[in-house]
Amino acid sequence: MSIYKNVLITGAGSGLGRALAILYAKSAENIFLCGRNFENLQQTKNLCLKNLCLAKSLHSDFVANIHLKILDVKDQFASYNWIEEIEQNHALDLVIANAGISAGTALGSESHTQVSEIFQTNIMGVINIIQPAIEKMTKRNSKTNSTKNYGHIAIISSLAGFVALPSSPSYSASKVAVRFYGNALRLSLEESGVGVSVVCPGYIKTPMTAVNNFKMPFLMEVDKASKIIFNGLENKRAQIIFPRALYYAISLLNWLPNFCQDFILKKLPKKSQLNYELNKNQ
Ligand SMILES: NC(=O)c1ccc[n+]([C@@H]2O[C@H](COP(=O)([O-])OP(=O)(O)OC[C@H]3O[C@@H](n4cnc5c(N)ncnc54)[C@H](OP(=O)(O)O)[C@@H]3O)[C@@H](O)[C@H]2O)c1
Repeated sequence: MSIYKNVLITGAGSGLGRALAILYAKSAENIFLCGRNFENLQQTKNLCLKNLCLAKSLHSDFVANIHLKILDVKDQFASYNWIEEIEQNHALDLVIANAGISAGTALGSESHTQVSEIFQTNIMGVINIIQPAIEKMTKRNSKTNSTKNYGHIAIISSLAGFVALPSSPSYSASKVAVRFYGNALRLSLEESGVGVSVVCPGYIKTPMTAVNNFKMPFLMEVDKASKIIFNGLENKRAQIIFPRALYYAISLLNWLPNFCQDFILKKLPKKSQLNYELNKNQ
């Protein structure tokens, strides 16, 4: 059983979001999943149900309700309405802002549209979801005036948010933005009974990285990554950063003189535009 009963996950139609959905389907009461592609969401639901059947055959009588929503997190009003709709019957106690896109400079510099789309999805897409959720969570707290925790927010950033990657400038900038935002938010919400975790994974095997045609150091299976995040959230860890070896390597790089950092960063392979192109067609 998870400590969370009603869990919302954005970008649950594939990759990390899907793997997290499968874990929470086995351990929460209601999970609310969104994405722009219904077939992908339905596939996630089927996988959750398959896993639930397995869990049941192992004598667990636990069945989570799985709610699907076609939603573009860039749409502020639709995101607010969705949270409003859910909160009429269920008090969300965990919201995972996971939806994200990536792209790089494989075709030269990034276009204005590409930068804008990445910032809109990875930054505003996070805000559009967590802001209405925080409003609901803090209201619950003020009604009872107790110090109980009234909800938890998880923001999926990245280790790319620790380094200015010339191979994907807008992606790394978007991830540093939500990392800083999340860490500041945690302190600003401390008195309100709403917790915030910032998640910074390294490379994970998902459709997002499947387009990378270079060797990704410490590439991790998505099931392993989702379990690390799940455990970190159960313990309400402020920052969930992994793999540690890659984090230390990046931290070391950040200590080097600028000219050394530039020398190393310029050697990194360019990130493909394919993920962005695929997302554009949604
Ligand atoms: N894979 C990695 O190595 C890695 C490392 C660090 C951090 N991350 C972060 O982890 C998160 C999940 O990425 P992933 O690797 O699992 O990639 P992924 O498989 O491409 O998943 C991203 C999900 O986000 C959804 N999405 C994209 N734009 C959306 C929008 N505007 N509205 C709603 N949903 C949207 C996509 O579904 P639809 O297309 O159906 O909408 C997709 O299911 C991202 O924030 C990513 O930056 C990934």
